[in-house]
Amino acid sequence: MMSGPSLPVPTWFVGCGNMSGAIVAGWRVAGVDLSSAVAIRPSATPVEGVHTVPGIADAGRPPQLVILGFKPQKLDEIAPQLRKFLTSKTIVVSILAGVEAASLRERFPGVAAIVRAMPNLPVAIRRGVVALYSADADQATQQLLSNIFAPLGYVPWVSDEAKLAAVGSVAGAGPAYVARFIAALAKAGEKRGLSRELADTIALETVLGQARGQS
Ligand SMILES: NC(=O)c1ccc[n+]([C@@H]2O[C@H](COP(=O)([O-])OP(=O)(O)OC[C@H]3O[C@@H](n4cnc5c(N)ncnc54)[C@H](OP(=O)(O)O)[C@@H]3O)[C@@H](O)[C@H]2O)c1
Repeated sequence: MMSGPSLPVPTWFVGCGNMSGAIVAGWRVAGVDLSSAVAIRPSATPVEGVHTVPGIADAGRPPQLVILGFKPQKLDEIAPQLRKFLTSKTIVVSILAGVEAASLRERFPGVAAIVRAMPNLPVAIRRGVVALYSADADQATQQLLSNIFAPLGYVPWVSDEAKLAAVGSVAGAGPAYVARFIAALAKAGEKRGLSRELADTIALETVLGQARGQS
């Protein structure tokens, strides 16, 4: 059964690799209706639950919402092709690290709003962080995006674009540090005579317990 917020119809994912794929996975788990969404990726590798096509020209009806999920260095190749399909009603959400809103606005001048999002991979299990920033989204657009991303975890808006990089260094890089810490804690348990399985579980539960206690 479908539940949760509705994505604008249609929503395009331009690039759908690791990070956008994690967003799709989180929405799928949350029961968000993805039936009218389109994933565009040159390899056309299927994205579970989403109609997948190899190019922008194959995507069909112009999008109401576009999520840019390719590598930043591809922007100048993709923007001129994409621009033709965007209207004054399109909301552009970019997850491209380090590409500023002003630079996106130059490439997509006529769209309704440019929003930058800084997600992290735990969105796939709905325990992610998705920081949002926009210089031009109106209140209704901000509310819409807060609702859409809410099923994926914690969704703060930041008022200063520079803070997105700080969020990226904590929430984006953080999971790798935490994973290393859990592994080291488990190793210490093993060294003191616990079985591997027991040490792993105790290390995980210790981190989970402390995190939940602090939240
Ligand atoms: N990974 C993270 O934790 C993270 C966190 C925050 C932000 N980001 C940002 O997310 C973006 C994507 O990172 P990623 O790790 O998901 O990279 P990725 O796994 O390499 O995904 C890149 C995607 O772009 C697609 N692509 C390549 N050329 C394209 C084209 N001409 N037209 C349309 N799509 C094209 C690729 O298609 P194929 O699948 O066919 O190869 C792939 O689906 C980056 O800008 C990064 O800064 C990543």
